[in-house]
Amino acid sequence: MTSPVSVEFQETNIEQIAGATGRVAVIVTPDGKLDAGARRVNKLTKGALGRLVDSETWEKKKPGDLVTIAWPTGMAADALDVICLPRAAKQDELRKAGVALGKAKGKSALLVLAGQVRRPVDLMLGIVLRAYEFTAHKTAEDKDAGALSMMVAKPDEAKDEAAAALAVAEGVFFTRDLVSEPANHLTTTEFADRIAAMKDLGLKITVLDEDEMGKLGMNLLLSVGHGSITPSKVAIMEWNGGKKGDAPLALVGKGVVFDTGGISLKPAAGMEDMTMDMGGAGVVAGVMRTLALRKAKANIVGLVGLVENMPSDRATRPGDVVTSMKGDTVEIINTDAEGRLVLADLLWYAQEKYGPAGMINLATLTGAIIVGLGHENAGVFSNDDTIARNFLKSAEAEGEGAWRMPMGKAYDDLLKSQIADMKNVGGRPAGSITAAQFLKRFVKEDCPWIHLDIAGVASVKSETTYAPKGATGWGVMALNRLVADTYEGD
Ligand code: BES
Ligand code: MN
Ligand code: ZN
Repeated sequence: MTSPVSVEFQETNIEQIAGATGRVAVIVTPDGKLDAGARRVNKLTKGALGRLVDSETWEKKKPGDLVTIAWPTGMAADALDVICLPRAAKQDELRKAGVALGKAKGKSALLVLAGQVRRPVDLMLGIVLRAYEFTAHKTAEDKDAGALSMMVAKPDEAKDEAAAALAVAEGVFFTRDLVSEPANHLTTTEFADRIAAMKDLGLKITVLDEDEMGKLGMNLLLSVGHGSITPSKVAIMEWNGGKKGDAPLALVGKGVVFDTGGISLKPAAGMEDMTMDMGGAGVVAGVMRTLALRKAKANIVGLVGLVENMPSDRATRPGDVVTSMKGDTVEIINTDAEGRLVLADLLWYAQEKYGPAGMINLATLTGAIIVGLGHENAGVFSNDDTIARNFLKSAEAEGEGAWRMPMGKAYDDLLKSQIADMKNVGGRPAGSITAAQFLKRFVKEDCPWIHLDIAGVASVKSETTYAPKGATGWGVMALNRLVADTYEGD
């Protein structure tokens, strides 16, 4: 797994600045105030920093912006990164500054002079999250990234806070690795094995095989995986850090390790992107990792449905009618609308088995959500205003885009079937909403539920707020915060 870069905190020691190799970063306020570290750098560079700060270039800089002075005189470093940050910088400004530094850092070592920064851990998290790279299949690449060291006012305090932030980064990286991994490597079996390895973190892991799922009646989920050589599985991660007997929050993820569309085959162009169709399951696994690493005081259960959607002589045909675990029958019009079939049985199972206090599912469910919201926001569908509001608040606080979408009976009516209880598609109009309505049919009345359609945000072809292009890990931070703020009470 890709590990976050190692981080070390120490008190400011201006004697070490001249000799630091790799990169050195200093922090300057928008109005050009230099702290002790920056003053030493200015002296070493014979006033270069002061000239930058007095220039027009600096006047235009906003909090979080960065200017690099390459091969600075008087210093051993290859580059001096000058970050614009106000004294009382806000969390998002600190993270944004960190992201700029993380991007510049690459594989270099980096020393950050953050003696005046009140919350250096937010700066650190930005650096760590942006410095991610998926190199598992680059044979010639040097995989060791240079360490990060930060000179701060209170190193012991920073170290304590950094542990929780690094738990978040590890969860995000776990998700990004899973989403980046191609389907010949990340089979359903490999995915389940990576989840099972998390038992070492104190998670209780259960993996259901096809026989067990058959006995439970999970025919919708199984119908998606029929055509594939890699067996369908359900992997369950339980974290019981809360009060004994408290109903858990259930997190449910779509884990289609590859989506060819099945017999309703997708066109060739861009089909390779469907390696990320397990993104929902990837986020669930990543959040569970974070919660276990930081020993969250809450009961959370993560369930992921791991399947591969392939065409074959055993694959489900368009027109087939399949009975769900709930007992409702589904006419499968389009085998490419497979995510909702996986989730339907999984949502039902989660309720029957765990009686959850709430349920949040994540899925790269529809192309239509990308048409609607692009790559900026995930679609939020819910049957309960309180849980929806709590989630939107958490997402906003973490800078992860999320936008509430409507639901309603008229959309639900589009799923009527001639020969079964419902169809699995509702036609072109409002494709993301009819998908959500399909899921809602498998959620009990009194269970607060959110469906997050993350098709547009799980993996993006240009860089995003916290990630280089590719897998983002969207949702790990928002869900971790939701758990911290709403479910870790008292
Ligand atoms: N995995 C896709 C959705 C998707 C599309 C994810 C683009 C990420 C990027 C999903 O299984 C799918 O194929 N949905 C169909 C539904 C349609 C057949 C009703 C779609 O969106 O076209
Ligand atoms: Mn599909
Ligand atoms: Zn899919």
